[in-house]
Amino acid sequence: MTATVGGFPEGFLWGTASAAHQIEGNNRNCDWWEFEQQPGRIANGDTSAVANDHYHRYRDDFALLRELNQNAHRLSIEWSRIEPAQGEFDAVQIRHYRDVLGELREQGIEPMVTLHHFTSPIWFANKGGWSAKDAPHAFLPFVHRVVDQLGDLVGLWCTINEPNLYAANAWISGEFPPGRMGDLGAMYRVTSNMHKAHELAYGAIKRRWPDAPVGLSHHKLLFLPASEKRRDHWAAQASQLALDRWPVAPGMLRRVVEATCDYIGIAHYWGQMCAFDPSLPKDQFIRRFNVPGRPVTDMGLSTDPAWMRVVLNELRKLGKPVYITENGVATDDDEWRCRYITETLSNVLLAIGDGVDVRGYFHWTNTDNFEWARGYNMHFGLIGVDRKTLERTIKPSGRHYARIAASNSLSAVN
Ligand code: BGC
Repeated sequence: MTATVGGFPEGFLWGTASAAHQIEGNNRNCDWWEFEQQPGRIANGDTSAVANDHYHRYRDDFALLRELNQNAHRLSIEWSRIEPAQGEFDAVQIRHYRDVLGELREQGIEPMVTLHHFTSPIWFANKGGWSAKDAPHAFLPFVHRVVDQLGDLVGLWCTINEPNLYAANAWISGEFPPGRMGDLGAMYRVTSNMHKAHELAYGAIKRRWPDAPVGLSHHKLLFLPASEKRRDHWAAQASQLALDRWPVAPGMLRRVVEATCDYIGIAHYWGQMCAFDPSLPKDQFIRRFNVPGRPVTDMGLSTDPAWMRVVLNELRKLGKPVYITENGVATDDDEWRCRYITETLSNVLLAIGDGVDVRGYFHWTNTDNFEWARGYNMHFGLIGVDRKTLERTIKPSGRHYARIAASNSLSAVN
């Protein structure tokens, strides 16, 4: 890509990212819907319920994206709507997503489509979900259906959202369905199955749409050593390895990236410090904590825009184009969000100068939404949503991001 002076490369994608279940509403056929009805699962007893009613209001929501000068948008197609029972495909829902993607295109916005963003059909969950042996093959018919019937409208493909985070939240911390805790074996199987599913999906997409870039989104948290001591360096490296590689069968990640990723997608939000601690055998002798002196978001995790450059530089050696598939901050302090966006994007520019081939940035997220187990209290959006009337209001950070997108540079906000 050619860079414009002081700005981002020509053709850079400026977007926001979203996930169907967090915004659409009445997404009843998926495992998350059932999970939310169980007492104590979601903060404040929230449930996704009508969410932002995006299912019906997508035209207005996309008009707002256009107003914010976006030229791309990352969204997910809900598997449980398209295939509510195994092998049964719902033509009405496929039509719906054709309208959704068509509308984005009408607005001049390139869709990046995610095929799995944390939610699975109930029939699939009842068979063991992603921990079941045949999970990758059970996912495939849905992929084929989307590829055949919606593929002409898709610009970029993101097969699976953050296998590493998903597996840990669902089978280790129990924050996601099926709400299991400490099941390392299942976590291992889930991550491997998701990477296998990615490989199969990659093949299915490429056979039909050979020119469309396909990748997945990897959750990339930065782990820093608590001191210069070797044992703390070991703690940080072991943590990074566990997040980035360990749950995947040896060699598999490399194979997945080399052969079946046209680009690297990363979701980066936060970082932690790691110290070796012999009193914590259950935590592999590692104590993790927020980085002192760095701001802490409402999610309770420390963040620093400078880490974006570090994370991007780690990817340089893979030699692939990079899309930042998610990045953002949970806060009600919208001025902080504006600063965070500018500073993060300055670091993206520095990384581009370092030689990382970054092609696009998808801010998480356009509208405040259902933040999984945290319910509606976390506000990541550039656009606020009144929870009673569902009325949308563009925040100053939305306008701020819009100016950057329009000029393809930071000059308008510096
Ligand atoms: C997930 C989103 C989530 C965001 C903020 C990401 O890892 O993909 O669905 O809302 O983090 O927590």
